Amino acid sequence: MEVHVVSKQDISQHASFSLPASATLGELGPSSVRIRPQIVSLGANNLSYAMLGTALKWWDLYPVQENYPAPYNDNSKWGIAPAWGFSTVVESTIPEIAPETLLYGIWPTTAVLTDMQLEKTTPQGHWIETSPHRQTLMSLYNHYVESPRSNPVCSLSSLSNYPSAVSPEEALSQLAWSSVFRTLWTCGYYLSEHVFQVHPDIKTPVHPLGNQFQLPWSESDADLSSAVVVSLGGSTKTARTFAYFLERKEKTVAPLGFLQVTSASVALSEATKAANPSFPSKAIEYADIESDETVEWLRQLNPSKIIVLEIGVRGDGLDRLLDSIKQNTALQFANVVIIKIGSPTKALSAEELIAAGQEIEQLGKVRCNTSGMQDTAIEAMGAETFFNSMDVKWEKLYHDRKLWAPDLKIRWSHGISGSDGIESGWTKICHGEVLANEASVYQLQETPPYA
Ligand SMILES: NC(=O)c1ccc[n+]([C@@H]2O[C@H](COP(=O)([O-])OP(=O)(O)OC[C@H]3O[C@@H](n4cnc5c(N)ncnc54)[C@H](OP(=O)(O)O)[C@@H]3O)[C@@H](O)[C@H]2O)c1
Repeated sequence: MEVHVVSKQDISQHASFSLPASATLGELGPSSVRIRPQIVSLGANNLSYAMLGTALKWWDLYPVQENYPAPYNDNSKWGIAPAWGFSTVVESTIPEIAPETLLYGIWPTTAVLTDMQLEKTTPQGHWIETSPHRQTLMSLYNHYVESPRSNPVCSLSSLSNYPSAVSPEEALSQLAWSSVFRTLWTCGYYLSEHVFQVHPDIKTPVHPLGNQFQLPWSESDADLSSAVVVSLGGSTKTARTFAYFLERKEKTVAPLGFLQVTSASVALSEATKAANPSFPSKAIEYADIESDETVEWLRQLNPSKIIVLEIGVRGDGLDRLLDSIKQNTALQFANVVIIKIGSPTKALSAEELIAAGQEIEQLGKVRCNTSGMQDTAIEAMGAETFFNSMDVKWEKLYHDRKLWAPDLKIRWSHGISGSDGIESGWTKICHGEVLANEASVYQLQETPPYA
């Protein structure tokens, strides 16, 4: 029964500890489930949840408990990093959710039982967390889905007597890829199909923060016909799925060109060729940002707009790109639009975070938020239509994974503490030791029922 906790002041300080077996939760409340986290993924997005956990309320997902040993029971100083994946229901006071049900959503990176209060929503099998302490969170993070909607494997125990159509390897692969991508892919999809194109069911361009704030985002902002799109941190999971949709756009709504800056240029070039060999796309290493070849490639496309997606840029890659554009007489008059999506994959200090916030204002970066973009789409399309269409798209994306992520391997790890657990994985991502071709997935229970 291990717990991993992270310091709210300095997320690179973290610890794990065991709770005694006697630490029980008491009687389960009404309209609630008691869950056991099973499989979660860890990547750059989890660092963001921690770094911005106070401002954007992500620490409120799973507050530390009073029965944790001191000092980790101090909610003002310690938090539990959340992660996407699957949990099993062990007890339920909701008639429609039986024990053994597998739920997809965002979970604590702990191996202990946790209580959640759920309310049914549309479509069937979707649930909203309604605990009072979570009500200031963005809607995306209070949304849970029973596994048949997100995964054909109905329960983890059914993995030991596999449904005949699904092999054990395939079942685990689906759980792993779903843990890594089931939410992350949607950011890239909304950017490509709702922000930089008018979606036929939404009918109006969607601002990268969503349209609920009524910030200006016109058809001209959404128009890529005279634009080059640059993705910084091209091998992040978010960027890879953005590339998948962008490179498959109809010619009439496609950009003039697409430049991916990455440490994995060979794999991304391969993905581009598989998508559409005639698409004007180029993947380069960070060292080649200012190279004559890159600048000439951009120049000959003659863009009047350069859209920079700042996803997981390494080092001073953004500054170097902007300088290179400014120094070229043919590019310097292009309108540069920077969409701020994420940060480098490492723990930023408080000073670095403040500097990053100031840079957003100074450079007029446009902030992006997946939850807001999703809320806009649900409002326009209705939840049933929206989620059904997203399920179909996710299945296709999963099916095509070798095309858009030919190099990406799932790296399975186990437990909370120890050299193979969440604690060690957290140290690695804090220090930027994430390999571009790996996606980390953790089995949290010591003896998982599907071992
Ligand atoms: N605003 C939103 O709604 C939203 C939605 C989704 C994600 N995000 C953010 O987007 C970012 C990417 O998330 P993700 O989960 O997709 O990332 P990820 O796949 O876990 O990121 C791994 C990648 O980070 C890049 N990277 C940058 N600096 C690095 C460093 N110092 N060491 C190692 N790798 C580094 C590498 O790509 P290259 O080698 O190609 O540089 C690496 O392949 C996160 O900040 C996340 O919070 C935001």
